Amino acid sequence: MTAMRIAVLASGGGSNLQALLDHLATLGATAPGQVVWVGASRADAGALARASAAGIASNVVTDFDVGDDLLADLAAARADMVVLAGYLKRVPPAIVRAFHGCMLNVHPALLPAFGGAGMYGERVHAAVIASGARVTGVTVHFVNEEFDSGAIVAQWPVPVLEGDTPLVLAARVLRAEHALYPRCIAAVAAGTIILGTDGRAHGTPAELLPEFALPQ
Ligand code: GRF
Repeated sequence: MTAMRIAVLASGGGSNLQALLDHLATLGATAPGQVVWVGASRADAGALARASAAGIASNVVTDFDVGDDLLADLAAARADMVVLAGYLKRVPPAIVRAFHGCMLNVHPALLPAFGGAGMYGERVHAAVIASGARVTGVTVHFVNEEFDSGAIVAQWPVPVLEGDTPLVLAARVLRAEHALYPRCIAAVAAGTIILGTDGRAHGTPAELLPEFALPQ
């Protein structure tokens, strides 16, 4: 099976990009996808340095409205899939449509809670702590034209502990992102998980289900 060509869009340090690269490397020749291009919405994004360290083509993306330039970048990379990895810009509708069913995002909370426009970074975790919630988590979802509202692929719970600060909680959630997101991306690349015509994700394998700590 030919590996899917994955384009990654990032805005920050690129730890989710790195987790994906590391996971695909562990799969070796059986990897269902390979990262072929990285786009960053900021010239100082650490994701660009990670891309070049991995020998992967990359460039700064400045086209956030119409999307013609970004669409050209994705076409030049012959991308089959688009992975948003800490990408803070809205994806132009033309691109969401072009990659319907093969564009994923990771959100550091259990959508639909604590999501939507403006809910990113520390703000998410501050809102979770302020709410008194004892469990937050990670959501991987297909991307549609609204922020954080595409079909959910998988979710993992992460405990909120007494005394958590937004930074401490963000780091705990990020570790869960690094475990869950690459596996979801690989499953979509392999065709194990698909976006159904009913608008829902289908086929989530057991390895992506959380192990709930049920009372004995
Ligand atoms: C993190 O806040 C993560 O929760 C979210 O994007 C931010 C940066 O991630 N998904 P990364 O290190 O740039 O992948």
